[in-house]
Amino acid sequence: MKAEMADEWLGFERRQVLDWFEQAGLVNRLVDCTGEDCCATHAGDTGADEPNEQARISVFAAVGTKRVNGAREHVQEQYAARARTGAACCGSGSGVNICCASPDNPDSEGVNIQPDYAAIDTTVIPEEAAGMALGCGNPTALALLQPGEVVVDIGSGGGLDCFLASRQVGEKGKVIGVDMTPVMLGRARQAARRMGIANVEFRKGTAEALPLPDGSADVVMSNCVINLCEDKGQVFNEAFRVLKPGGRLEISDIVASGSFPGEVSADPSRWGDCIFGAIPEGEYLALLRQAGFSDPQVQKRAHSGDVFDVAISSLTLTAAKPSTTA
Ligand SMILES: C[S@@+](CC[C@H](N)C(=O)[O-])C[C@H]1O[C@@H](n2cnc3c(N)ncnc32)[C@H](O)[C@@H]1O
Repeated sequence: MKAEMADEWLGFERRQVLDWFEQAGLVNRLVDCTGEDCCATHAGDTGADEPNEQARISVFAAVGTKRVNGAREHVQEQYAARARTGAACCGSGSGVNICCASPDNPDSEGVNIQPDYAAIDTTVIPEEAAGMALGCGNPTALALLQPGEVVVDIGSGGGLDCFLASRQVGEKGKVIGVDMTPVMLGRARQAARRMGIANVEFRKGTAEALPLPDGSADVVMSNCVINLCEDKGQVFNEAFRVLKPGGRLEISDIVASGSFPGEVSADPSRWGDCIFGAIPEGEYLALLRQAGFSDPQVQKRAHSGDVFDVAISSLTLTAAKPSTTA
């Protein structure tokens, strides 16, 4: 191509484009083919390759998002306040409090985000954890956890999913909840102590830098947390890193059908409601694939409402780390 068409620029490596976006400070960086190819056939003997060989040149699109200053701090404050009061934000069902749009945010009126647990047996699961269910699904119901497995819960909150998982993995297994909010961690640890649950541990850390070694978990799960994280791509990289080869990811989370008005998604004070940090499902799945996960599958999808003409849905999805990585 260089000899025949005098092309100076022979294209980009995906990695190179991602690095440029990273240097520019963008998050959720994605590079993907548009599905269109330009083709060219080289006719003469340029001394390279076979004559008449076709060069397929794929056209790519790259996207990235500018960080929202203060989003993480607002999210942390909001969940610390919930952990302190232990209060439901909009009622309760099945014996669990429900996370939804906060009542003082009129933008999110009409959006109802809730987990889908059956009745919780509080003779074996701590009541204070059942009373702090802030999720949007029920990942342990679909994760097919096995006795002896090591499970990591990203953004474990009051610990309900950890306690449910602890019963499935049994005493030979282990569950590690990771959360960045100290008051939430305190609440979850106290619940574990009170009920004498020994196979659950809660660690302080962020989803973007998990406090766990490489290849140490059989399953990584998360319930309504990744929408709150600015750099979802980095969260998926971290989940991939800590999983063993062949390990599984099981996530319940919120996605949006499109973009919110710029001034809304750029307002850090709106990030805590599990709505305005949500990204489209296609982008979410592409970020998972880019992190290395194979075959992400949506297992459940529920419409939670509309805001600014954007449909909000909760998803539960599964994906796997390949047994052998190239
Ligand atoms: C909506 S609540 C969900 C809690 C829990 N998974 C559940 O289902 O009840 C979000 C939790 O994620 C935590 N969180 C949010 N962003 C985080 C981050 N970047 N790293 C670690 N924890 C985070 C918050 O402190 C909060 O406890």
